[in-house]
Amino acid sequence: MESMKAEIQKVFKERFGEAGALYASAGRINLIGEHTDYNGGFVFPGAIDKVIMAEIKPNGLEKVRVFSIDIDEYAEFGLKEEDAPKQSWARYIFGICREIQKRGGEVKGFDAVFAGNVPLGAGLSSSAALESCFAFALNDLFNNNKIDKFELAKIGQSTEHNYCGVNCGIMDQFASVFGRKGNLMRLDCRSMEYEYFPFNPQDYKLVLVDSRVKHELKDSPYNKRRESCERVAKRLGIDTLRDATMEQLEAIKGDITAEDYFRAKFVIEEKQRVLDVCDALNAGDYETVGKKMYETHAGLSKDYEVSCEELDFLNDVAKTLGVTGSRIMGGGFGGCTINLVKNDLHDDFIKIAVEKFNEKYGHEPKIYDVVISDGARKIEE
Ligand code: GLA
Repeated sequence: MESMKAEIQKVFKERFGEAGALYASAGRINLIGEHTDYNGGFVFPGAIDKVIMAEIKPNGLEKVRVFSIDIDEYAEFGLKEEDAPKQSWARYIFGICREIQKRGGEVKGFDAVFAGNVPLGAGLSSSAALESCFAFALNDLFNNNKIDKFELAKIGQSTEHNYCGVNCGIMDQFASVFGRKGNLMRLDCRSMEYEYFPFNPQDYKLVLVDSRVKHELKDSPYNKRRESCERVAKRLGIDTLRDATMEQLEAIKGDITAEDYFRAKFVIEEKQRVLDVCDALNAGDYETVGKKMYETHAGLSKDYEVSCEELDFLNDVAKTLGVTGSRIMGGGFGGCTINLVKNDLHDDFIKIAVEKFNEKYGHEPKIYDVVISDGARKIEE
């Protein structure tokens, strides 16, 4: 973090002169509750210690000038709808500006330099981290922090919908904005009520195994999954699948496609699993938490069909080694598995998973120990 900050400050000074203010926001994990957010269900995410960080300073112009250290590209754009930049990374920042303006907020021209260590395309929500970092910063710099935190998350989500082509739910932006060190959060995506859950099991660790199979939700079947769910909800005469039961689904089975049936089945079952995991966590019963994680993986792989060969392989390896829980995490189509691993199995699991994966696919997966951390914030000097 310190070296990232120093690099950003150096580049900012070279490009724009006098220093600006520093902001950061985090990537996220999700313990359980996948593809439930846009169905009005529950999710269970937390922010992690991997961030996007930006230095930003108003420039007194009608335009934004921004440099991405990691992509090594510069972009410049105005603040009107027709000024949308071409580079996809810059569209996230442009989208945040526009969505704030659409809500009556203020955005003036600014200069920015940013960098990050959230792995891209790994299912850890690097894009939500970027959105939340800029939404938080522009609220602080131009709006006296008048925009509340939920609205900041929605500004990020609308950016995805309107400028980036992903019809996502609210989980990632919520986690990135609301994240709190040492805590997971259970969010009810219908009422938007949430609760912090301290998560610090003595005997287990959360480990991410990144297959390095890249996923890109835009143009991926993510939006199609959402359409399936919406079709079934409509057929049942309800707003979202949150209100559906398996009995109701069985009753219309003959009228919907097999594909839509299995998508909805997964969502209905997953909704219940999040609640079961909360009960298990309250009882300190991590074996049940792990069992539910395996069930989620099976559902995501077979019914929701958002896994891939590499992730199924990693899940099998975990199971064979006796790892407590393991599943694909995030939108799917690549990225990471999240694993709940007993401390005494931790080192062996990593060693063997890396070896076996490398043997089969010819490259090593990346391993990240999860450190649950704070979300969007200003970095004080
Ligand atoms: C992506 C989306 C989220 C959520 C997950 C799946 O990360 O951005 O809104 O739908 O996939 O749970």
